[in-house]
Amino acid sequence: MKLLVTGAAGFIGMHSCKRLLEAGHEVLGIDDLNAYYDPALKQARLEQLRPLPGFAFRKLDVADEAAMSALFAGSRFDAVLHLAAQVGVRYSLENPMAYVSSNVAGFLNVLEGCRKAGIAHLCYASSSSVYGANIELPFREDQRVDAPISLYAATKRANELMAECYGRLYGVPCTGLRFFTVYGPWGRPDMAPFLFTRAILEGRPIRLFNGGDMGRDFTYIDDIVDAVVQLLERPHPGAGAGEKTRLFNLGLGALVNLREFVRALERELGRSARIELAPMQAGDMRETCASTERLRAAIGYAPATPLQEGVARFIAWYRAHYAGANA
Ligand SMILES: NC(=O)c1ccc[n+]([C@@H]2O[C@H](COP(=O)([O-])OP(=O)(O)OC[C@H]3O[C@@H](n4cnc5c(N)ncnc54)[C@H](O)[C@@H]3O)[C@@H](O)[C@H]2O)c1
Repeated sequence: MKLLVTGAAGFIGMHSCKRLLEAGHEVLGIDDLNAYYDPALKQARLEQLRPLPGFAFRKLDVADEAAMSALFAGSRFDAVLHLAAQVGVRYSLENPMAYVSSNVAGFLNVLEGCRKAGIAHLCYASSSSVYGANIELPFREDQRVDAPISLYAATKRANELMAECYGRLYGVPCTGLRFFTVYGPWGRPDMAPFLFTRAILEGRPIRLFNGGDMGRDFTYIDDIVDAVVQLLERPHPGAGAGEKTRLFNLGLGALVNLREFVRALERELGRSARIELAPMQAGDMRETCASTERLRAAIGYAPATPLQEGVARFIAWYRAHYAGANA
């Protein structure tokens, strides 16, 4: 298949591209390589992809309407994996406009491109954050999700509604992927596994919000990518008038307390964390945990990586990539 992957220099994007290329697909990756976090890490991820046969890259902003329209008009894609987004819950309190541009306008450009080009399948990233103020765990796809607690979450929910609309109006076949706290090698510097690891190695304290009483469904990157690739490779069952578009939770299906996660890091690093307890932060959810039943029924999804093993692989990568930096 010939695939367009947006956000290709990102954490999930790089791993997805790699797996798709290894499976023999042709991939055009796009990314604007913005400086929300260290662009050198994005470039280093791209260096992993460049030697692989079938890969091409273009620096492009998904919010650039003319460029996106030209991209879809000039190439034929069998499917699109849309991962580009302004990520980060907390940053959405500081710079809300970045979220509207990349996540709302950018997504509309992708939907329009798919509609005009008659794309057979659009898989796009949503997020566990759409569950917002819901407290009934595990989160199930059929729960109401109309209480977002950050603008990031609101833009991700908006994406789901926009996809629903394009499915009903124009038959654009969409699959939304609600990712739950993904971690692993080449992970994001703004997320807890990376922030904690760096702080522990540098002897700095780590801050646990809500007094450490928080939990996440930590999902190892390979398990995420398995599901993404399987979903992309299978034909979409078809969308049309009156049909709901597809939405899947993509998590491990286990709730891990943040302190437990820190202990897993400490074991692997052979060092103790200096812990500072802090109050709950605006925009943060206390706990997330996915029901994975729907995805299991659709593709036989069975995430396989235990936490300690995933953490070990992340630390091994971190030590190798940042060799010398207190590692
Ligand atoms: N990692 C997680 O735990 C997680 C959880 C829930 C949802 N998600 C979603 O999954 C997707 C991928 O996340 P990730 O963790 O790989 O994040 P990431 O930031 O590493 O990757 C996103 C990539 O998109 C690019 N990008 C951002 N705005 C762009 C724009 N306007 N035009 C082109 N490229 C742009 C960035 O440069 C980056 O390389 C995102 O949509 C994110 O919201 C991730």
